[in-house]
Amino acid sequence: MLIRGINGSPRGERGATMRLVRAVLGGAKEGGAEIEALNLVDYDLRFKNACIVCFPGGDCAFTDDFAEMYGRIRAADGLVLDSPVSIDLVSGQMKIPIDLMADGIRCQSLAGKYGCAVATSGDHAEKEVATYLNHVLKMFGATPVGEVAVAAGKDGAAIGAAEGRVAELGRTLADAVATKRP
Ligand SMILES: Cc1cc2nc3c(=O)[nH]c(=O)nc-3n(C[C@H](O)[C@H](O)[C@H](O)COP(=O)(O)O)c2cc1C
Repeated sequence: MLIRGINGSPRGERGATMRLVRAVLGGAKEGGAEIEALNLVDYDLRFKNACIVCFPGGDCAFTDDFAEMYGRIRAADGLVLDSPVSIDLVSGQMKIPIDLMADGIRCQSLAGKYGCAVATSGDHAEKEVATYLNHVLKMFGATPVGEVAVAAGKDGAAIGAAEGRVAELGRTLADAVATKRP
């Protein structure tokens, strides 16, 4: 069982959001999963150009890192999708691959997988972003099992406080994958 974190923070590994993703993945590991996190900021992903070359067979016309990134997403049994709030919405780093994966809605490319969402903000819109990320999982055919949404506040103390309690979500995700929870 492989559970991957897909991190949409422009700060990558150094960001507040990744701290929570690591904590969720820690719970998933306790639940028996092999875990891995990837940072979308490390991938060379180009804007979608609406060519829809992918619609007949799924292959992307671009020769950037999209195929590798999508392959890693599809190879996972469980996904932790995460993003910081950026001007009230998901980050650009997260939205570009979501758009690039558009053909996956039609063919339900994430069917049979489970997932959860993690979002952090300064002080608002974190719940909306987490809800959107779980909605994305559902659109692609995956089953969301929960979310973590934390407003970091001025000093980021809320992130530290949340780290201790989000492992449960990872354990829930691992259990859903292992038992193929309906
Ligand atoms: C360009 C930019 C836009 C942001 N927009 C918002 C916003 O609309 N609402 C909010 O509460 N926080 C906003 N923030 C704050 C981040 O969401 C918050 O600091 C988050 O925890 C950063 O996560 P990260 O360290 O993983 O990137 C913004 C930060 C940046 C850099």
